[in-house]
Amino acid sequence: MALAICLFFLLLSSSCEAYKALVVFGMPATSHSNLGRGVVRNLLKDGHEVTFITPIPIKDPPPNLHQIDVSSNFELLPLDLMKIERFLGPNSMPALPRFFVKMMMMNLVSKTMEHENVQKLLNDTIAHFDVVIVEWMFTSLSAGYATIFDCPLIWLIPVEVNSMTIGLVDAVPHPAYSTDPLSSYLPPFSFLERATEIWTRLQESVLGFLYYESKDAANYERIVVPQVQKRGRQAPPLSEVQYNASLVLGNSHVSMGLPLSLPQNYKPVGGYHIEEEVKPLPEDLEKIMMNSKNGVIYFSMGSNLKSKDWPEEIKRDLLKLFGELKQTVLWKFEEELPNVPKNVHILKWAPQPSILAHPKCVLFITHGGLLSTTETIHFGVPTIAIPVFGDQFINVKKSVARGFTLQVDLSYKLAADLKVAIEEMLSNPKYRQRVKELSYIYHDRPVKPGAELRHWVQHVVNTRGASHLRSPALQVPLYQRLYLDLVAFLSVAFIVLYMLIKKLYSRVRSKKIVNNKKRN
Ligand SMILES: *[C@@H]1O[C@H](CO)[C@@H](O)[C@H](O)[C@H]1NC(C)=O
Ligand SMILES: *[C@@H]1O[C@H](CO)[C@@H](O)[C@H](O)[C@H]1NC(C)=O
Repeated sequence: MALAICLFFLLLSSSCEAYKALVVFGMPATSHSNLGRGVVRNLLKDGHEVTFITPIPIKDPPPNLHQIDVSSNFELLPLDLMKIERFLGPNSMPALPRFFVKMMMMNLVSKTMEHENVQKLLNDTIAHFDVVIVEWMFTSLSAGYATIFDCPLIWLIPVEVNSMTIGLVDAVPHPAYSTDPLSSYLPPFSFLERATEIWTRLQESVLGFLYYESKDAANYERIVVPQVQKRGRQAPPLSEVQYNASLVLGNSHVSMGLPLSLPQNYKPVGGYHIEEEVKPLPEDLEKIMMNSKNGVIYFSMGSNLKSKDWPEEIKRDLLKLFGELKQTVLWKFEEELPNVPKNVHILKWAPQPSILAHPKCVLFITHGGLLSTTETIHFGVPTIAIPVFGDQFINVKKSVARGFTLQVDLSYKLAADLKVAIEEMLSNPKYRQRVKELSYIYHDRPVKPGAELRHWVQHVVNTRGASHLRSPALQVPLYQRLYLDLVAFLSVAFIVLYMLIKKLYSRVRSKKIVNNKKRN
């Protein structure tokens, strides 16, 4: 009892203490960087000391934020793959094959760890962290950061809840009703979809076994093991490290995705990256929005599709379409355009949350990335979505199924298709009603997502790894889960029993025959 009280006070006192966190977001993309900044902002709010590995460092960082610049990561992605022409016309490219995505991410994660600036940190054997928060990018090598610094690991999942991410801390959910992160199906599946889903899972397991795992393990041996040894410890194998996360923070919420059952240490905190206080708009923009008589349409295709690559004819058609609308159009585009109609305003930089939060904003035309989808539900604005790559297709499919989005395909007749969709959107109130309902579900949580994130990170630090939250499924190998051992046991028992009975029977029979003979 006395011990329990001591422990209680120890925990209580340490809950007020500042901890040191290492936050790793190496993916060179604005959206991923925004997720990283959301984590950092929340931890700094509680006065903790944060080291942030990022390709897009924050300008004028506060004194308790140390940044490790990995901006050279931009050279690691084949950015010409993102050119809009690849997604247009007869030669348009289908989604990247998953093997390619996986290889690209494995390369990115190992190169980030081997980056000179990161190596400086890893070489510093005195550096100490209480927790490591890493963005999960399809590979488990980055679990090694926690192994090096001998502290609890928290994964931050940039995408919706899916079979792979649940599989990090629990048994993989059933393929008949769950998807993997690159899947383009939504349950309930048709027969063919269900078959495809399990076929993909099998392929992934076989590829993982034959290829990915050994590649990850080799990287682990090269990059992580020597650092652990330098600190005088024995490095556990990657196969143990990769399923040893204390917590998973998911950038997801049931208002946006599937309500799959989650293990105790999987916390969906979707929306944490949005600042609780909406920043006021710049004066000129506020004026434009206030003066619009018929509302404002906001058009942004994110930061990956570069404006300069858009074909001239599409730009011209879009300007013409927007010019004919009664609404004011804010178009986020990094390029000056000639002959811009009076009701259209080109913004090189757009404060997206503040625009979506404005009561005059009636429609958001988006690529359907997860962050934009989150923001549009947060602020309750219906969307027309033009998915281009990655998880955008599945996000948009979900949004359409939820009834607040119309999908338009990227093509040379984009403007004509958009026109039809805009007319439907603005004349039918059901989309707006639906997004308001989802927005209510999104906001109706016991605590705000940022506060929830801070709470669970603190909980992991205070309990040094929150081992009480770990799923027991992690200790049960697949053959036991499938009861193969029981099947084997019963088979052997059955065979033995069968043989015994057979033997007994033949004995009885031979005895009978002997007896009969004697009688004769
Ligand atoms: C880190 O340490 C290794 C040897 O342990 C050395 O080869 C490497 O140059 C060091 N890197 C940096 C950036 O200090
Ligand atoms: C697993 O995590 C716990 C808590 O952080 C840690 O104490 C333990 O050493 C880790 N084990 C492995 C094999 O990484």
